[in-house]
Amino acid sequence: MVLGIESSCDETAAAIVRGGEELLSSVVASQIATHSPYGGVVPELASREHLRNLVPVTRAALAKAGLSYAELDAIAVTNGPGLAGALLTGVSFAKSLAWALEKPLIAVNHIEGHIHAVLLEERQKGPGVLEFPVLALVVSGGHTHLFLAELRGDGWHYENVGHTRDDAAGEAFDKTAKLLGLGYPGGPIIDRISKFGDPQAVKFTFAQFKHEARHGSKRAGRIEPDHKRFDFSYSGIKTAVLRYVETNGMFPAIEARRSALLQIAAPTDEDYKSHCDRQTLDLVASFQAAVVGDLTQRTMAACEEYGVQTLLVTGGVAANSALRTRFERCGPRSGVRVHFPSRLMSTDNAAMIAAAAYSKWMSGEFAGLELSAQANLELR
Ligand code: KG4
Ligand code: ZN
Repeated sequence: MVLGIESSCDETAAAIVRGGEELLSSVVASQIATHSPYGGVVPELASREHLRNLVPVTRAALAKAGLSYAELDAIAVTNGPGLAGALLTGVSFAKSLAWALEKPLIAVNHIEGHIHAVLLEERQKGPGVLEFPVLALVVSGGHTHLFLAELRGDGWHYENVGHTRDDAAGEAFDKTAKLLGLGYPGGPIIDRISKFGDPQAVKFTFAQFKHEARHGSKRAGRIEPDHKRFDFSYSGIKTAVLRYVETNGMFPAIEARRSALLQIAAPTDEDYKSHCDRQTLDLVASFQAAVVGDLTQRTMAACEEYGVQTLLVTGGVAANSALRTRFERCGPRSGVRVHFPSRLMSTDNAAMIAAAAYSKWMSGEFAGLELSAQANLELR
């Protein structure tokens, strides 16, 4: 019975998972309302909100599961990557709990958590065979990574075969929405209004990288042959949108839209549509189509290179409808089974942290009370 704690960015979450597969409760306190007026996450405010929310969110998770602290077997916590201050609140809280309750502490990498969000839900659907090689695309506000995932004994091992060289895909969604006066977080808004525009109207291009090989890397004690990399880049498209806005004199309309939308508590699709002209709707739809096209194309190329059988697409951007449709179409065409988390489990939550902790519990991978937050923690 593992209690998971997540506080790496702007959601405070606690969840309880039994045996790595049975979700007993999952509680998420979102900070959207706190950061919304600033158009992005303010790190100091995030830490303060986590401090306020950690205890009530944990109590709610226990109450929903009908458990007491004494019935827990371990405390798992995200120790990176993420905002240093935000991570520190969760890590300090989890350490205090583990110490006071005399329960083992398990450190979980946030990116690994996103991968286990899919695995947890797949296990809930029933016993299925996960066919290897498995590739995971973790695509969110802070990450755009491709990992080959391997199960050796009880433990998962990961090899990064691609990452963004600059902005994450979700960051590009958020920054573009902010630039166009649409609000925060931008991903879900762009997803909702893209259906009103022409995805072919504006053409965007992406940086191309040579698939640099990793030379003679050592893996599992043996030298692996050269592995091709599949990197991403999403800062260019943000600048291209800015140029388009400048060239077409769109700033006055953007400012008018920003003020108008701020007056509406929860804008509907129709509210967004009525405050956007055709040119803006076409720009938004074209932006989304371009990012989705690039993400799928590079990921499918990696699937082909590595003979991938199973693709896991996860992280906040995996909630995007166009991205799901596109992968659902391309995957089967290439003989790849594609799995997504439910939309709720795509974005940050603690169920994925408790689920990822299970294999560490099985292999006795516990953290000491000297555990600290690591803002740039890598996944291996
Ligand atoms: O996984 P997550 O909650 O936090 C990080 O680990 O970063 O992901 C949040 C990101 C934000 O950038 C948000 O705009 C994006 O996921 N996102 C979406 C959608 N829902 C959330 N992007 C595109 N379409 C969506 N439907
Ligand atoms: Zn995340």
